[in-house]
This record gives sequence, C-alpha cells and structure tokens, in this order.
Amino acid sequence: MTQCRIAIYPGSFDPVTSGHYDIIVRASRLFEKLIVAVAPNPSKQPLFTAEERVAILQEVCASLPNVQVECFEGLLVDFAVKCGAQVIVKGLRAVSDFDYELQMALTNKRLCPQVETIFMMTSSEYVFLSSSMVKEIARLGGSVQGLVPKAVEPYLYRKLEQPVPNKETNRG
Ligand code: PNS
Repeated sequence: MTQCRIAIYPGSFDPVTSGHYDIIVRASRLFEKLIVAVAPNPSKQPLFTAEERVAILQEVCASLPNVQVECFEGLLVDFAVKCGAQVIVKGLRAVSDFDYELQMALTNKRLCPQVETIFMMTSSEYVFLSSSMVKEIARLGGSVQGLVPKAVEPYLYRKLEQPVPNKETNRG
C-alpha cells in the first residue's frame, strides 16, 4: 500500500477564512506535509495580490510546522506533481459546492490519474462562510471577528481603508 505523505490544499484564499484555516489544521494532521497552494486567479479580481495572500497565510500557519505555503501558476495537477503531492484536499461546505468541485476533481483526475482529490466537510460553524462574505462585511464596516484568523483582520481593514470596528458593531 502506498502512503500519502504530501497533500496540496489549493485555493484563492482572498483572504484565508476561519473555514479555510480549520481545513488546514485538520488536513495537516492527516499528512506528513501539507502545501497550501495559492492560485493567482486574476479572473476573480482579487482584493489581495498573490504575494500578499501568501504572506498572510504564512503568518496564519506559522505555528503549524508541517504546513508550507506556496503560490502557483498554471495547472494545479502540474504543480502537485512538481511538489511530489499525491493528494489534492478540498473543503466542501454544502451541496451547492458539489457540482463545481466534482467537475474540478474529475477534470484533474483526467489530466493526472495518479493524483487523488479528497474532500473534507467544513466544520458546521463555518458552513456559511466564504472569502467574498468576509470582504463584504469588512467593506461595509462590520466585524469579521471569528470569521477570519485573528492575524487577517488588520490586513483586511487596512486594504479596504476601513477603521477596525469594535465588537459591538454586529448584532445577533
Ligand atoms: O478558492 P477557489 O477560487 O475556489 O480555488 C479554485 C482553484 C484555485 C482550486 C482552481 O481554480 C484551480 O485549481 N486553478 C488552477 C488551474 C487549473 O488547474 N485548472 C484546471 C482544473 S479544473
């Protein structure tokens, strides 16, 4: 039986959310090495540059010794092979993610049969969460406390030229 030692967790991470971080921590316990792979994804007009997203992730993952953050261009499977990764990890939040993720997993399988995609269910407290949601809340002056790792907050408000709100801003 072949052991899966290196896995890759790809995404835009614009910015990394608490849901992403939860997957990173859980996946890092399953593999010897986890490479968090930032895709530039210019079609999505990201808020943060790829370099900024890598720097933020490096800060957020600093306490996870087997997690490495990289940026890649081109096909994900080519980058996975280059890194020696046998597994692509993806997080699934809800049924609405499934069609798109299935399409990507099957495409990647077709392109590179030796690399497997595995899905991890997002923890229930983050099922609603997305980077887009976080950016909208911050842009409109709301608090993103708990929705992103603590280190992300100052980057987000600075980039959006918003003051850091106090916790009372959000009701509920
Ligand atoms: O966080 P996202 O935006 O959903 O991540 C999407 C990502 C980066 C995983 C996906 O766009 C990707 O794998 N891009 C690399 C290009 C590629 O390999 N495309 C073919 C696979 S469908």
